[in-house]
Amino acid sequence: MIKINQKSDSLLDHKTECLILPCLEEKKPGGAVKNIDAALNGAITAAFENKRFAGKPNQTLLLNCNGNLKADNLLLVGVGKAKDVSAEIICKAAGAAATLAEKSNFKSASVYLNDSCFDKIAKGPRYGELAGAVAEGAGLALYHFDAYKSKDEKDDPPSRLQTLTLVPATKTAILKKSIDRAEKIVSAVHAARDLISHPGNTVTPTYLAEHAKKLARKSKLTCKVLGKKEMEKLGMGALLGVSRGSHEPPALIVLEYFGAAKSKAPTVIVGKGVTFDTGGISLKPPASMDEMKMDMSGAATTLSTLQAIADLKLPVNVVGIVAAAENMPDGLAIKPGDILKSMSGKTIEVLNTDAEGRLVLADALTYAQRYKPKEVIDLATLTGAVLMALGHQAAAVIGTSPAMIKQLKESGTATDERVWELPLWEEFEKATKSDIADLKNIASPGVGAGSSMGAAFLKAFAGDQPWTHIDIAGTAWGYDKPYIPKGPSGYGVRLLIHYLEHRKTK
Ligand code: BES
Ligand code: MN
Ligand code: ZN
Repeated sequence: MIKINQKSDSLLDHKTECLILPCLEEKKPGGAVKNIDAALNGAITAAFENKRFAGKPNQTLLLNCNGNLKADNLLLVGVGKAKDVSAEIICKAAGAAATLAEKSNFKSASVYLNDSCFDKIAKGPRYGELAGAVAEGAGLALYHFDAYKSKDEKDDPPSRLQTLTLVPATKTAILKKSIDRAEKIVSAVHAARDLISHPGNTVTPTYLAEHAKKLARKSKLTCKVLGKKEMEKLGMGALLGVSRGSHEPPALIVLEYFGAAKSKAPTVIVGKGVTFDTGGISLKPPASMDEMKMDMSGAATTLSTLQAIADLKLPVNVVGIVAAAENMPDGLAIKPGDILKSMSGKTIEVLNTDAEGRLVLADALTYAQRYKPKEVIDLATLTGAVLMALGHQAAAVIGTSPAMIKQLKESGTATDERVWELPLWEEFEKATKSDIADLKNIASPGVGAGSSMGAAFLKAFAGDQPWTHIDIAGTAWGYDKPYIPKGPSGYGVRLLIHYLEHRKTK
């Protein structure tokens, strides 16, 4: 992970390989940047005039300083119009600039935080937030996964941007706090992306459990893992049913965090942890089946959200529950038509073994009731249908509480981890009724609305408290942005941290 520090310096005296200047769209160089422009014989003014650079969001321009400055290179990055500037806009611009700095083979770079955009908009209380967004955007953008590359296959020489220096007018405590916070969030998101990047033969249910235990050893989290025996005792027939076809033992992983009075009911976050989804006996087609290593993204987000909550010491009570299993076809695997008895006592006719996410979640949601939660959120790569509805551009939120969904929408906008509501109509719930068991895990042909149907099934296990299901099948992978490189996004961590920090407490 990139190291981020601060150094108060005058702009002209700051020595660096690459000086990053955030620029507003409508603003030509002013303040100290004017001096830089002069030292460079008007190169910045010229760039604006020639329309090679206009300060549009995420636009970049790299200029060589030719020895005219202490900085070797100048990297202009646009942040758009002053009235639109937000932490999210800055986060993206920092991601774009850091990515270009790294591609240009710089080992270190600096971001100037005073004139240009920061002078006008960030004096006062928002300074910390916006400066933190620079650290967050750069940190999130520079994600690499090369755990399986042998040494000589790795970048040679390693072309990594290693340090980013924020350059404020004076060394500030606010800045230190913001950098600290950003580093914690970045490290949690990177951890989630790593879990998703690793293939199914590394990240097994046992691996997820070990990861959770490690988190608990390092911070104020308590970890409990239920194995097959304990699940049998609790009657978790749905989760056990899914894992029957696999040699990898299942795990129900619980991470508890109490940052508020113990008497306050916790928020429970439940994550789908199918470490590989072959579809089971209802086998998936071979093309792109490899992508199903990401079917534990809900689990990754859950674990990383708990990591971030503990690192940031949020004053909330949160319990994370991960239902981890591998979905394989095998002589012992469940078959279409089999009936499973869930921990809730409800029986489920499994008409398609590929609709396994809702089965593992059913028992995890029932288990969540033990905490008498104030609210439950589940995260799951549940349906391909969400990709039909929303592509990779938003997760679907479906649930029983307009208040929760309203706050999730606000948090989704603030972090640009977008959510879009889909309906949970009673017709969908009716369509989950089986002829011979309580429920069936897929609707009869013709009902459609695959994502809502998944949610309608989960509702039968979600309890009476407010509950929201978040289908991240489209956003867990391919949610590319200037600070999200191709591959796993780590979607959900920033959304949920914002949610927990901003939702009204009862
Ligand atoms: N893990 C898949 C959903 C998925 C699809 C995630 C694409 C990420 C990308 C899930 O278990 C699944 O197979 N769902 C089925 C449900 C169907 C059988 C009702 C689907 O969406 O086809
Ligand atoms: Mn499936
Ligand atoms: Zn699945």
